[in-house]
Amino acid sequence: MNTKSNDKTIYVCSACGRGFSRWIGKCPDCGEWNTIIEEKVTAARPKKRSVVPETDATPITLCHSRQQPMIQCGIDEFDLLLGGGLVPDSSILIGGEPGIGKSTLMLQVAGGLANQNLSALYCTGEESTQQVGMRGARIGIHSELLQIAAVRELPQIYALINRIKPAVVVIDSAQTLYDPELESAPGTVSQIRSTAAELVDFCKRGDMLLVLIGHITKDGAIAGPKILEHLVDVVLYFEGESHNWFRLLRVKKNRFGPASEIGIFQIGEEGLFAVGNPSELFLNEYPEDIPGRAVVTAVEGQRPLLLEIQALATQTNFGFPQRVSSGYDSRRLALMLAILEKRQRIQFGQRDVFVNLAGGLKIDDPALDLGLVAALISSVEDIPVQPQTVLIGEVGLSGEVRAVPFAERRIAEAAKLGFQKVILPKKNLRGLKPRNDIALVGVEKLQELPKAALM
Ligand code: TYD
Ligand code: MG
Repeated sequence: MNTKSNDKTIYVCSACGRGFSRWIGKCPDCGEWNTIIEEKVTAARPKKRSVVPETDATPITLCHSRQQPMIQCGIDEFDLLLGGGLVPDSSILIGGEPGIGKSTLMLQVAGGLANQNLSALYCTGEESTQQVGMRGARIGIHSELLQIAAVRELPQIYALINRIKPAVVVIDSAQTLYDPELESAPGTVSQIRSTAAELVDFCKRGDMLLVLIGHITKDGAIAGPKILEHLVDVVLYFEGESHNWFRLLRVKKNRFGPASEIGIFQIGEEGLFAVGNPSELFLNEYPEDIPGRAVVTAVEGQRPLLLEIQALATQTNFGFPQRVSSGYDSRRLALMLAILEKRQRIQFGQRDVFVNLAGGLKIDDPALDLGLVAALISSVEDIPVQPQTVLIGEVGLSGEVRAVPFAERRIAEAAKLGFQKVILPKKNLRGLKPRNDIALVGVEKLQELPKAALM
């Protein structure tokens, strides 16, 4: 076969999109294994442009008032997550593992917008129109302004958009988008990147809201949504496990509102709906007098959450002790173990340590440290942490308990859920007004913790 001289083969990481000149087993950028795939790239084809669109520059003062009003889809949790609503000509990427609820939520959003008299086009590349229709009936979408099309090819999507002139376009999913003019197969990094970029641009020029759905797969067979993050205005990811009955949606990037906000939804027959009291979700119901567990707080975006952290320290059976952490940063866990060895003389060299944050959440908040350390001591000593107690505080290298932000908000959440005691950094305690609904106990050093927190 006659290959064109300007074709070349590159190696790309399907998780993060970084390119390499040869195949390697592990991506040095994102650290994923076996995600490097071979791709053929064709040199950019010359674009046929009959008319050069006119452009203009505007004084910044005239741009001040140009901000478009946000539109609400009516799913309050979703609108709030985005900082009040959706921006009409923006692009949103929503990523998550298969089965987590991306299609359901986006169909709800499109239905909600159709209820506001905005026409919406939902392009499904994975399911049939009947399947999407059945889901629509189940979640109660009855507006004719929402139209479904089973299309994958970019030219067909353009044709549909030009005919229907929707205000909202949903693409389910970016991985099935396909431009026949590109030589690479659907699902490859170059296809996804190029088709998504074109579509983002097309919708922006036409003042349409574009929603791109992207799957995250662990095996790296198809390229992940990460490679599209820089193209869009808003990036949202579903977090947690698909077997849980709640779903977390985290904002990773938002050009119009606060980032790092989270939305907490419950799944149901009629789709996703807001959870009344999120903190209750993450607190287990079983008896409290079990060693190795503590209740901690995390502030995610604007929202304080109470969660349970569990630690289990057991005798190592093999020479090398294991450290397994889910939800709590594993490097930070290693640090906490080192601090406990040095300051509390608790030896972990012969102990396996397992840590788990209930609910499948991943939290970076250093205020979790004190609770984790209490759960670790509790597991080693086999003495439970006191019941009805919440622990707040960062732990420093010399075993000092450091102040954390939003102490008042965290305490208020603990009081709201009926907890009776909060153990917190002494520095935080000094700045607080006394409360009569909850006892506040300040600690300064790790040495004070066993007495203050254990039963
Ligand atoms: P789906 O939205 O298809 O997930 P994704 O697009 O991320 O792969 O949801 C997976 C399945 O779960 C689907 O059969 C519908 C069901 N589901 C509900 O029944 N209720 C819900 O609230 C959600 C989110 C999903
Ligand atoms: Mg889907």
